Amino acid sequence: MAVGVKSKLNRITKQAMTDNILQQQIEYYRARANEYDQWFYRIGRYDRGIEINQRWFNEVAVIKNTLHQIGVVDDILELACGTGIWTQELLSIGKKITAIDVSEEVITINRSKLNSLSVEYQLRDLFTWQPDTEYDLVFFAFWLSHVPPKLLDSFLTKVYQSVRVSGQLFIIDSSFEPTSTANNHILIDDGNIYKTRKLNDGQKFQIVKIFYQPDQLQDKLKQVGFHADVNLTDNYFIYAHGTKV
Ligand SMILES: C[S@@+](CC[C@H](N)C(=O)[O-])C[C@H]1O[C@@H](n2cnc3c(N)ncnc32)[C@H](O)[C@@H]1O
Repeated sequence: MAVGVKSKLNRITKQAMTDNILQQQIEYYRARANEYDQWFYRIGRYDRGIEINQRWFNEVAVIKNTLHQIGVVDDILELACGTGIWTQELLSIGKKITAIDVSEEVITINRSKLNSLSVEYQLRDLFTWQPDTEYDLVFFAFWLSHVPPKLLDSFLTKVYQSVRVSGQLFIIDSSFEPTSTANNHILIDDGNIYKTRKLNDGQKFQIVKIFYQPDQLQDKLKQVGFHADVNLTDNYFIYAHGTKV
């Protein structure tokens, strides 16, 4: 086979694999909607014992405290809002929140938990979403780590377009720490961005999961035009607070 044809076929195969995994990632979060909060609240497979759980909650408190220092703004865009764990924090920061997710199941849970007229939900795939409004604050938690490297620049450019000049960006994500995941998931730092995730019933899915280092994330945010501080908590989280200049 000619070299050009072979490399084209390779590209098509890789693209098909990424598309398939992004679809599995959507299916995973849809199927996991009712058990998702167990992860955040350290219940069931995510319960690592009082001491380790307390470490997690202390680090969550550090981030919540930083987030709330933003004060009050008018309009917030939350991407990949999920079941509302962070939407409920944003309710006391923004007068109006636009919350986007691809899963009807998580949006239904979010809506019924918050029961707020200040939140407008939009069912959208973030890889095809096109921003059409600017916000005072754009926020996403535990989403960036699921964006494949090839789509990162275009995603962050869309985020940049969604923030008004002098507006803010707040990102929260995972650090590599084996006790952050379920006790039947094996977290290996092997550079493979595709990871297997299981539901409580054992059903398996492949997803993308990338663990950023602060410098790496800071550089990426700078490249698209944000001034950002990127920090780690002691074990579990990385978070970034940026401004559009
Ligand atoms: C790890 S969860 C984070 C949820 C929430 N931000 C939180 O911290 O609790 C990832 C979220 O991304 C959503 N998601 C997955 N693929 C998506 C896509 N292509 N477009 C929009 N949302 C997507 C899932 O439905 C899920 O709610």
